[in-house]
Amino acid sequence: MQRVFSGIQPTGVPQLGNYLGAIRNWVVLQQDHECIFCLVDMHALTVWQDPDSLRQQTLGQTACLLAAGIDPARHILYNQSAVSAHARLGWIFNCVVRLGWLNRMTQFKDKAGKDRENHSAGLYVYPSLMAADIHAFHATRVPVGDDQRQHLELANDIGQKFNHDYGVAFFPMVEGLIPPGSARIMSLRDGTKKMSKSDPSAQSRIELTDTPDEIALKIRRAKTDPEPLPSEEAGLENRPEARNLVTIYAALTGETVPEVLARFGGEGFGPFKAALTERLVAELGPVAAETRRLLGDPGHLLSVLRDGAARASAVAEPIVAEAERIVGYLR
Ligand code: TYM
Repeated sequence: MQRVFSGIQPTGVPQLGNYLGAIRNWVVLQQDHECIFCLVDMHALTVWQDPDSLRQQTLGQTACLLAAGIDPARHILYNQSAVSAHARLGWIFNCVVRLGWLNRMTQFKDKAGKDRENHSAGLYVYPSLMAADIHAFHATRVPVGDDQRQHLELANDIGQKFNHDYGVAFFPMVEGLIPPGSARIMSLRDGTKKMSKSDPSAQSRIELTDTPDEIALKIRRAKTDPEPLPSEEAGLENRPEARNLVTIYAALTGETVPEVLARFGGEGFGPFKAALTERLVAELGPVAAETRRLLGDPGHLLSVLRDGAARASAVAEPIVAEAERIVGYLR
């Protein structure tokens, strides 16, 4: 059975992009894979986090993931900082990765912008810690959204360079599982920007804990253009906001974009937005209700994470100990 690893930063509440790009896929993969899912609090720290909020959001996201269908009895769910293997292999990989490779990472460029000198070294070496997350478990399949594609290529480059430098066949190749339709959900306020937990505008995203009223309001206010929906996909060209809403609808119903347009083409956004809201509420309503219920018992959430961390350590420890032996640490 192939081993799956994936992670999410415990900053804010998971949003629709996280759900359609990654989490929904995680739930399905549980059927026929051995899965390890991680709240990557060490990655979150690469930009300033208020300590109490970080703790709170780690618990909050645990509740959301359980509510969405992650099964901690059959699979592993934990927070990254509780398993030291990540930091130890991350350091080895910092010594394997080349500065030139990190310089090419577009996510760092996007996040740091022009003010590069004032960002943490952690943000810069983030992709080598991400490579360590995956390789510490010898995971071979990684379900993520499209924005992580370049980081996965780097994880393979780092694993292969380690193997080459030390003359071993130790780290396997990693395959990204990127959903074809919904790998890049865009902001509701600007169809050229990715939907993100950290966007300053709460109106730009649907959160997994939104109430039906909040969902309805955000979709009603979602930016569109004055034209009716086109009947063919070519008509979505240069209409990023319209494309995004149709993409979300298609991802929720399992239809293709042309199928959705065949139904709604020629109509204005009013009826389409109402239908989209209905789909969103049907899919996310139960997740939000179950999240609220789980948040009532933080002790249970903490025990899920602690149990997950112990089991994650048991898998990663021998792999990272072997990497440490290979590089020549004296024990
Ligand atoms: P993060 O926390 O930014 O996002 C979690 C997952 O959600 C996907 N995603 C999206 N998919 C579609 N449309 C969007 N607008 C959207 N926004 C986010 C992300 O692609 C991701 O799959 N670096 C990772 C976390 C990480 C990780 C790992 C993932 C750390 N180590 C090892 C896989 C393997 C991140 O920042 O995810």
